Amino acid sequence: MDIAAARIQELRESIRYHNERYYTFDSPEIPDANYDALLTELKDLEQLHPSLVTADSPTQLVGASIINTFEEVTHRLPMMSLDNAFDMDQLEAWADRVRKGLQQENTEPQWVCELKFDGLAVSLIYEEGRLVQAATRGDGKVGEDVTANVQTIKGIPHSLPDGAPTFLEVRGEVYMSLTTFNELNERQRIAEEKTYANPRNTAAGSLRQKDSRITATRNLSFWAYAVGDVEGVEQQDSHLDTLHLLKTFDFPVNEKAERFENFSSVIEFINKIEKTRHDLDYEIDGVVVKVDALSMQQQLGATARAPRWAMAYKLPPEEQTTTLLNIEVSIGAGGQATPFARLEPVVVGGSTVSTATLHNSDQVKAKDVRPGDIVIVRKAGDVIPEVVGPVLSERKENSEPWNFPTQCPICEATLTRPEGEAATFCPNHACPAQVRGRITHFVSRGAMDIEGFGEQTVDLFVSKNLISDVADIFTLDMETIATFEGFGETSINNLKTAIQTSKTQPLGRLLFGLRIPHVGTTVADLVAQSFTDLDGLEQATIEDLETVEGLGPVIAVSIDEWLRQEHNQQLLSKLRQAEVNLQAASSPVSQENAKLLKGMTVVVTGTLTTMKRNEAKEAILQRGGKSPGTVSSTTTALVAGEGGGSKLLKAESLNIPILDEEAFLQLLETGKISLTN
Ligand code: IVH
Repeated sequence: MDIAAARIQELRESIRYHNERYYTFDSPEIPDANYDALLTELKDLEQLHPSLVTADSPTQLVGASIINTFEEVTHRLPMMSLDNAFDMDQLEAWADRVRKGLQQENTEPQWVCELKFDGLAVSLIYEEGRLVQAATRGDGKVGEDVTANVQTIKGIPHSLPDGAPTFLEVRGEVYMSLTTFNELNERQRIAEEKTYANPRNTAAGSLRQKDSRITATRNLSFWAYAVGDVEGVEQQDSHLDTLHLLKTFDFPVNEKAERFENFSSVIEFINKIEKTRHDLDYEIDGVVVKVDALSMQQQLGATARAPRWAMAYKLPPEEQTTTLLNIEVSIGAGGQATPFARLEPVVVGGSTVSTATLHNSDQVKAKDVRPGDIVIVRKAGDVIPEVVGPVLSERKENSEPWNFPTQCPICEATLTRPEGEAATFCPNHACPAQVRGRITHFVSRGAMDIEGFGEQTVDLFVSKNLISDVADIFTLDMETIATFEGFGETSINNLKTAIQTSKTQPLGRLLFGLRIPHVGTTVADLVAQSFTDLDGLEQATIEDLETVEGLGPVIAVSIDEWLRQEHNQQLLSKLRQAEVNLQAASSPVSQENAKLLKGMTVVVTGTLTTMKRNEAKEAILQRGGKSPGTVSSTTTALVAGEGGGSKLLKAESLNIPILDEEAFLQLLETGKISLTN
């Protein structure tokens, strides 16, 4: 008992500390999953020793008390928290408790599933149809008045339409979209400032700015998920109907909320969301399951902390703590020296992570992560795992700040950092890491597309001194390669054919493959089309380059500089000798059609029947449109062939027109979007 009491005391202190970091300072020190583990341990211990439960235990309270910068607001109805289920058994056990708790015992209620948005809860009060007060949750009873800041959030209505209740409290989550968060961090990186840890904390910090003009620049968003107090209107019978009503009052209500007759559909919903959570442009940390009938909600009531009629099913966490074993530096194809963390392997965001990026030397300095630290690692979806920062309370006393190396770890050249740039470079063009990087890029699918020429093959050929630049690929010594393990007759023949075929690739792909700074696929195609062949391009002046539509002076200078460098001229002459195609793709597009899709961004996904995806993209580019690989809010339309997956879901969630193949062909012909359904 004494041991339990001591542990309970320890857990309470620790949880109180982390509550304050999270709720009061918007700056948590540990990931949510670690916090949840502390709370679960405390709950379990208190359940085993009910005599030790006290009213001030964090298990009985919501959030943390507030610091005194904003006016205090006492909520008319408490703003509660939610209980968590970490697996299906716990969720099913809750559903059983609900069934038993209903007056007509063991009736199956209707369930509503909603996403659990990872932001911060706010209460919005409307009197006579006008927004008069917005408050944070605070400790659940008393929150902070953030009205001026909330008024800057675009989706939140300032007034309600006629017929709205005379008094209405709407509750929901303020959040920051991933697009906004990534843009904000990109700006921080460019300004050499510390990046923000995650969208939730950034949203919380943005909402609690003293100057609402700063909040206004942060582009926050809002989802309504409940009604608090209400007067002057007949109450709805169902939670989902209430959400639909809020939508008619112009509140942003998430379109994924759905009602189900039976619990197996609830589980299906959760499984589907778990697979598709990264297609959303905002973060979620779970699914909230609620009993739909308000009368049943009343019967079930609430504990001191959370309602009994709702449960948060937590999805696997995307942040974890682990030990930072070392900080190393990798050298990219362009010589960029990028610091990265070697980590004690940890499962996060659905996979085991043992390395994570640290971006550049300024970021390491700003975050002050040191070898030996316990660090927070974050991996969301397809993005590269990232070290968010150290857990300072666990830092060892003798730890030393890490210093960026002065020499390239591969070739030992002295690293340089050009003035005004965040990146550090290895200046040695012949550095084996750079050579490998350039060749890997050249053979990749978007460039010369040489099948069977993977990274391992590149490594092998470079280490055996068979290739030192991309042109050497076309004069490879196949006899020597035939002596290598794994290179039998068939694979040699396949490799020869793949290399031979790649020689016919159009000039645009070759230019992209050469990794000229600032030249991506779109610019490469534009340049190729404008100068028709390499000779034409080589004769072009910077002024000629600048006349190409879509090319600014920075790109023009970059291409010109690249072309004038002696080692590049030698490379081009080797490519000429190897009889690599140096002509642009013949353009079937007439002059007047060249601007048909100007200003449009058309993304292609899935398999089309009449053309390959690359050809579809090329057709868009030739008509003056853009065709990036990802769907975003600026996408004009998504062309969806057979088997289009996550992009389709994302386009749907952003209400972007989706074109089938026929509609796409029409778009290419007319420049107009005609929707078939
Ligand atoms: S309902 C009384 N629905 O989760 C229950 N909460 O961990 C009121 N949250 O404080 C909450 N998405 O900030 C509800 N669809 C959703 C939610 C949601 C996110 C947050 C909310 C709450 C916290 C509890």
